[in-house]
Amino acid sequence: MSAPYIGERPIRTAVVGLGWAARSIWLPRLRRNPAFTVTAAVDPDERGRAAVEAESEGADRLPVLAAVHDLDPAEVDLAVVAVPNHLHCAVASELLLKGIPVFLEKPVCLTSEEAERLAAAERSGGAVLLAGSAARYRADVRGLYRIAARLGRIRHVELAWVRARGVPDRGGWFTQRSLAGGGALVDLGWHLFDIAVPLLGTAAFRHAIGTVSADFITQRSSRAAWRGDDGGPVPPGAANAANAANAATDVEDTARGFLITDDGRSVVLHASWASHEELDTTRVTIDGSGGSATLRCTFGFSPNRLERSTLTRTVDGTTRPVAVPTEPIGTEYDRQLDMLPGQLRDPAGRGRVIEEVRRTISAIERVYTSARIPREVRESAPV
Ligand SMILES: NC(=O)c1ccc[n+]([C@@H]2O[C@H](COP(=O)([O-])OP(=O)(O)OC[C@H]3O[C@@H](n4cnc5c(N)ncnc54)[C@H](O)[C@@H]3O)[C@@H](O)[C@H]2O)c1
Repeated sequence: MSAPYIGERPIRTAVVGLGWAARSIWLPRLRRNPAFTVTAAVDPDERGRAAVEAESEGADRLPVLAAVHDLDPAEVDLAVVAVPNHLHCAVASELLLKGIPVFLEKPVCLTSEEAERLAAAERSGGAVLLAGSAARYRADVRGLYRIAARLGRIRHVELAWVRARGVPDRGGWFTQRSLAGGGALVDLGWHLFDIAVPLLGTAAFRHAIGTVSADFITQRSSRAAWRGDDGGPVPPGAANAANAANAATDVEDTARGFLITDDGRSVVLHASWASHEELDTTRVTIDGSGGSATLRCTFGFSPNRLERSTLTRTVDGTTRPVAVPTEPIGTEYDRQLDMLPGQLRDPAGRGRVIEEVRRTISAIERVYTSARIPREVRESAPV
């Protein structure tokens, strides 16, 4: 199999952050893909390093380092960064300033100010910043994009990723605002903003408002089973599981937003880690001047998913199904990896990610600002 290598050799890749995403998503795929060779792994936590060391015994033994500071730019063509959200900007900026290209997990940043720091690091270091956008590479989402091109002028997009249950790592960094930047909106909502980019083009969001709530987050049954988070031990000294989780949980499990682009298109967004639903469902509806289309599927790795994706197109009162291929869970991550060598070589690539990220993070910031209602007002709302 021929592969688009940098020069004649595979892309020497350092994986930074050796937690769930690195070990479940990226390391196995990087090892399988001949365009890449994993040459280093970085994590300050001994447990992450030990797990990766154990997987790479013998001749394939990987150098595992405690800090990105120790990576030699002369020996690294790409760093895949999957650290907790609050470290994305600092870790990626350090690598970019060293001149190491970065593929950064979502959410790329947590504030507009962080977006500017990343932009400055990309400019100064001369290395490209790439970002996780896997959902765009799903076959069903690509099918939706093809249909969207035949719907005339797009007027309105509804984006929903609503899990029945799937709060990641409750009580850990994902559910602490200071470490995660937010809850379902920055986690699932980021993917939804991301798939909207090819539909809405480059227009910024003129208005962005929304609401957040956390009715499910403390329920043990809401945990993300596929991460091994369900039924985990209760920290010692906790009176009960709910108290233990409450102690460290200050983000939303559900966010709803309404946004309007500069060119007058509207977007409704709904991201939930847990809900009253039976299955984890992603639903995207596009209303155009010449028809509408709806995709129903399940993003991500949850086993509690729709059996298959369905895509329909409605014109003049008639709804017709559009065939979409069924593909193994996670195929979009393989596809995104296949695109990386070309993106690394593209001289026009620098600054492209940050352009999109500025719009996304600014919208997220404004949804959170509008959702911040004083507790006493919120609590006095009729039941
Ligand atoms: N694209 C997706 O579908 C997807 C799925 C899951 C997670 N993610 C993203 O991946 C990132 C990591 O998530 P996770 O679930 O793996 O979290 P995790 O907590 O399981 O792993 C994070 C790892 O980063 C390590 N780390 C902390 N500081 C570090 C530093 N300075 N340098 C290097 N490593 C450091 C931690 O020790 C830990 O091992 C998050 O930003 C998350 O949003 C994306």
